[in-house]
Amino acid sequence: MPNIRTVTPEELARQREIAAEMAEHNAALPAPPLAFVDTYGCQQNEADSERLRGMLRDMGWGFTDREEEADLILLNTCAVRGHAELRVLGNVGALSHTKRAKPGQRLALCGCMVQQPHMREKLKASYPYVDLVFGPHEIWRLPELLQKLYTPHRGRIYEARDIDGERYEGLPVLRTPGVRAWLPIMYGCNNFCSYCIVPYVRGRERSREAEDVIREARGLIAQGYKEIYLLGQNVNSYGKDLRSSLDFSDLLRALNALEGDFVLRFMTSHPKDASEKLFDTMAECSRVERHIHLPFQAGNDRVLKAMNRGYTAEAYRRKAEYARSLMPDIAITSDVIVGFPGETEEEFRDTLSLVEEIRFDMLFTFLYSPRVGTPAAAMPDPFGKAEKQARFDALLALQEGISRETQAAHVGNAYRILVDGKGDKPGRLTARSIHNRLIHLEGPEDLIGTFQDARITAAATWNLTAEPLKGEWNHG
Ligand code: SAH
Ligand code: SF4
Ligand code: F3S
Repeated sequence: MPNIRTVTPEELARQREIAAEMAEHNAALPAPPLAFVDTYGCQQNEADSERLRGMLRDMGWGFTDREEEADLILLNTCAVRGHAELRVLGNVGALSHTKRAKPGQRLALCGCMVQQPHMREKLKASYPYVDLVFGPHEIWRLPELLQKLYTPHRGRIYEARDIDGERYEGLPVLRTPGVRAWLPIMYGCNNFCSYCIVPYVRGRERSREAEDVIREARGLIAQGYKEIYLLGQNVNSYGKDLRSSLDFSDLLRALNALEGDFVLRFMTSHPKDASEKLFDTMAECSRVERHIHLPFQAGNDRVLKAMNRGYTAEAYRRKAEYARSLMPDIAITSDVIVGFPGETEEEFRDTLSLVEEIRFDMLFTFLYSPRVGTPAAAMPDPFGKAEKQARFDALLALQEGISRETQAAHVGNAYRILVDGKGDKPGRLTARSIHNRLIHLEGPEDLIGTFQDARITAAATWNLTAEPLKGEWNHG
């Protein structure tokens, strides 16, 4: 049984007290101190950063996107692949110069990378100018940690408890204004896929109570967010750790019934837990996207077993088939790992076959990256980098052809699209269809945040172009 504790109301109140004291102190300064918060990794980390910013705001901090003027630099790190860690470490190195140029600047690291003991050792030994390090389990303690950081002669602070996770609600959130709101419904992961570091750094699955999720969603809709993005490492196991019998499908249905004009998206779905009930629910809920991100990781059963994924390629095919039988237009996107230890050329060809057969709308392709402490890192890995890269390139080329065709199939269709941001040039905007396809259009900025009836007029490999269905966009 995982050891998961609920943070007491007194403990949370204590953090708020510290935050209020700091806010008072900062309000007396000529100008508020400025924080630069930078996020690496996945949307869960983005959501955590929104909470870190919320606490900083409540402590009287302002924000900057210029490192050189920041009083505090906070990097929320990722550990999922070696590349993510190298990027963080490279930037930390560069920040030593920024720090020298701005006396009093403090540098803090949090997030998944620093939950790993070997990374903390490395930072301690080789990056002495890092002032504060704290793991994902310490986020709610930010006020206390900053208080320590600003206590004179306190020295470097390293805090990362080796725990399964804690439950708490009610941290302040400072969201990026816009159309899309990240809404975490659960934290952690229990799956221990043999290549993956996430369960080690994020702890065991903790689902939020449905009423808390629904309350937050209602608030977001009232604030004008149009796209509610439900987040979890494996949303399909939502609720298994709760007393109620509610599952992810039930939660989707409850959210779908809320008043307002919005779409519901979610990620990530693990194939072993994506049930027929989920697809039935998606088909019946008009606000739920016609899209599922369903990472298959490998197309060969021996490799899937070695990855500890808990399904076969055939089971995956059946799920995709079932989803399409109910929703012929559903977009299926996926993640795949190339070069898992010991994966042979022949086994890799099963990945190509699956990709060819399923015809994903989009594929995120990763070269296997050994993660310290995971079972896969200890498996014999006879294939070299060049060989893996060649496979990677072949897979990419295959998928590019498929994406081009699946994208082209949208041309001529009419969709209700959500305009969600500015495009790459003035006068250009971006939008998303119910299938979560990226769409470019031309129009004024006041369309951002509106739903529009559009016709797809052109397709490229990674995006579509749309025009108004009825001659002009609806300005409401
Ligand atoms: N919880 C999600 C995603 C987690 S990480 C899920 O289970 O699907 C996102 C993706 O990174 C994974 O789907 C996987 O394809 C990839 N990934 C994870 N660990 C990796 C590793 N060690 N090397 C290469 N890719 C990895
Ligand atoms: Fe990692 Fe697997 Fe959990 Fe996804 S389901 S976070 S790949 S262990
Ligand atoms: Fe990275 Fe942690 Fe997300 S390892 S992918 S930031 S859960």
